Amino acid sequence: MKIRIKLLSFLLSLSILSAAQNVFAVGLTTEKKVEELLQKMTLEEKIGQMYQSRDGGQDSILKLVQKGNVGSFLGITDIILRNKLQKIAVEKSRLGIPLIFGFDTIHGYKTVFPIPLGQAASWNPKLAEKVAAVSAKESRSDGIDWVFAPMVDIARDARWGRIAEGFGEDTYLASLMAQAKVRGLQGYGDGLFGPDKVAACLKHYAGYGAAEGGRDYNTCEISQRTLREIYLPPFQAGVQAGAATIMSGFNEISGVPVTASRFLLTDILRGEWGFDGFVVSDYTSVRELIPHGIAIDETQAGKKALLAGIDMEMSSRCYLNNLSRLVRQDKISEKVIDQAVRRILRIKFDIGLFDNPYADPNKPSSVLLHKDHLELAREMARQSVVLLKNTNGILPVSKDIKSIALIGPLADSREDMMGTWKGVGDAEDVVTILEGIQDKASAECKINYVKGCDVKGDLIDGFAQAVEAAKKSDVVIMAVGESEKMSGEAHSRASLDLPGVQRELIEEVQKTGKPIVVLLLTGRPLAITWIDKNIPTILLGWHPGTQGGNGIADVIFGDYNPSGKITATFPRNVGQVPIYYNCKNTGRPPSESEYHTSRYIDSHWTPLYPFGYGLSYTTFHYSNLKVSPDKISMEQPVTISVDVKNAGKRAGEEIVQLYVRDVVGSVTRPVKELKGFEKILLKHGEKKTVSFTLTAEQLKFYNIDNQFVAESGMFKVMVGKNSVDCLESEFELTK
Ligand code: NOJ
Repeated sequence: MKIRIKLLSFLLSLSILSAAQNVFAVGLTTEKKVEELLQKMTLEEKIGQMYQSRDGGQDSILKLVQKGNVGSFLGITDIILRNKLQKIAVEKSRLGIPLIFGFDTIHGYKTVFPIPLGQAASWNPKLAEKVAAVSAKESRSDGIDWVFAPMVDIARDARWGRIAEGFGEDTYLASLMAQAKVRGLQGYGDGLFGPDKVAACLKHYAGYGAAEGGRDYNTCEISQRTLREIYLPPFQAGVQAGAATIMSGFNEISGVPVTASRFLLTDILRGEWGFDGFVVSDYTSVRELIPHGIAIDETQAGKKALLAGIDMEMSSRCYLNNLSRLVRQDKISEKVIDQAVRRILRIKFDIGLFDNPYADPNKPSSVLLHKDHLELAREMARQSVVLLKNTNGILPVSKDIKSIALIGPLADSREDMMGTWKGVGDAEDVVTILEGIQDKASAECKINYVKGCDVKGDLIDGFAQAVEAAKKSDVVIMAVGESEKMSGEAHSRASLDLPGVQRELIEEVQKTGKPIVVLLLTGRPLAITWIDKNIPTILLGWHPGTQGGNGIADVIFGDYNPSGKITATFPRNVGQVPIYYNCKNTGRPPSESEYHTSRYIDSHWTPLYPFGYGLSYTTFHYSNLKVSPDKISMEQPVTISVDVKNAGKRAGEEIVQLYVRDVVGSVTRPVKELKGFEKILLKHGEKKTVSFTLTAEQLKFYNIDNQFVAESGMFKVMVGKNSVDCLESEFELTK
């Protein structure tokens, strides 16, 4: 007996040695390595891989790491601490399995780019991909292996604070952006990530953006059809691009919290889409199954989440504290645990953590805020700017101008430029609007800067000084909007007005009669109806990031001709939300002349600025819309072309948009759906023909029998500069 025990412990020590040094036979595939490792793991070690801790250096957590009870950490940006934790995992734990470190690099790490909603306004997935690549490079250099991005939740309600983090209301555009982001973060490899890449995480699966009343974390009531046609496609697109991980949402859909939805997490995600990465819960969303009211305690919550398909639990410990007991009591099979662990280990192998578990503390200094990154941040900032109004041609401002009044609480605010989820962005690296303008204006130009008021609050002490500054200046630029803390997670608003007394400030300054540019810096669409009515020039800059001041100054002085177009509808008032362009027609579509139609008695039904809207310093004329052939079969493509001419005096980019309406279906179809777009550059006077090709595949939807098919019949084609201003034609799809 004694000899057997000795032999056993000798064998055990051998396995410790080989595993702790991560020795795998040369040429083993990831699958084989995963299986080999899994065989050696105890049940507790397996469950440890499924726990992501939010804690850092406390003794208790160090002990857990050493015991192999932690698989991942989130939010650790101290590279020394990261390496310390990693060293314990790799060199002190029995099997030496490396930890994976996750972080919210949402729109940049140290170099902060415009908020995702701003990036979407560029309609430039290639540029968005470059931005993601830089975010990956900076993150990885600092020891982050995995980022919780992109957020691909469709948002139709501007009250929802997290509208800032996504790409807006359109499924097609969001799907392209999702793929661009995944490629930028992870690369194009065959599942292997380069040293400058990170694992991506599509979130928040699914439907989180449909929170009732726009109130964060709130209930979502979404029909199967809407779920599949509107909310799921960006996730599926991201999976197709190879996303390594997915995060489940906090919300429920029609009575089922998504963190416990086997239908979403297993049937659709694994069964229909073939996703082979791992799913992480959102922060404590497993434990939140208790307040949701579908679990009595943490044990039941853990069991439900696991059986639904959550592989890793973020922050709460329902898995860590209960799963081994459930297995021992035969209440769940160890096979389910094995499957989750397999998925986690696979990603750890794929991103190279077994070969290279440590981050080089000397690396970040040569990577973070690299001048190429700042240049890209400036490019994205200017491409995300949207010119909403320019009636008197006040913009661009001449560089010879003698004086500018720069007024407003956001004109010289560093922090607010970065917006929600600023990574590890530092306010001191930010170029403010004031600095950007100072840098561009001529040395002789007098810049009269006055804050005027705060973003919030009702103090009007600064108004008089603002008015004085305006009076002595040739042009007034008013930087107003939301502070960084007014959008993002848990920052929903019940009002979409400009906060505080900012509108009153504009009204006071307007009385001077000076030409005014309102520069709106915001994390969401705002109901700026009064401004639209009373101020001739409006520029939308979002929360533009580290290089925001430079990018926006480029636009103000005409070094860049604005080309951005909004991807979330701007309502006239908060009462109109949710409002989105791809709505249904209803049986009584709104009409000016018919009273009993779908409209309001106290507001127009149309938005202030529709989806896809944005102006330029030049003008574009659309003509010659051709659809050929005008009758196609299910196998045949249709070509749609239009001539676009730059009819103004300067070069500019235009985003040419294609919308389609399925006129009669077995179920009702949206009044229009974006099916294609192209961003083109035209010199002044230049004309280009833009062509799109559509096939029946792109016309599919879930029919009355819930089959994903294209139905024969007439299709209306709309091509234009936004979702409203379009040329129209049609074609027929035959059986
Ligand atoms: C909660 C948020 O919903 C999610 O988006 C984020 O990634 C996690 N917290 C981690 O910080």
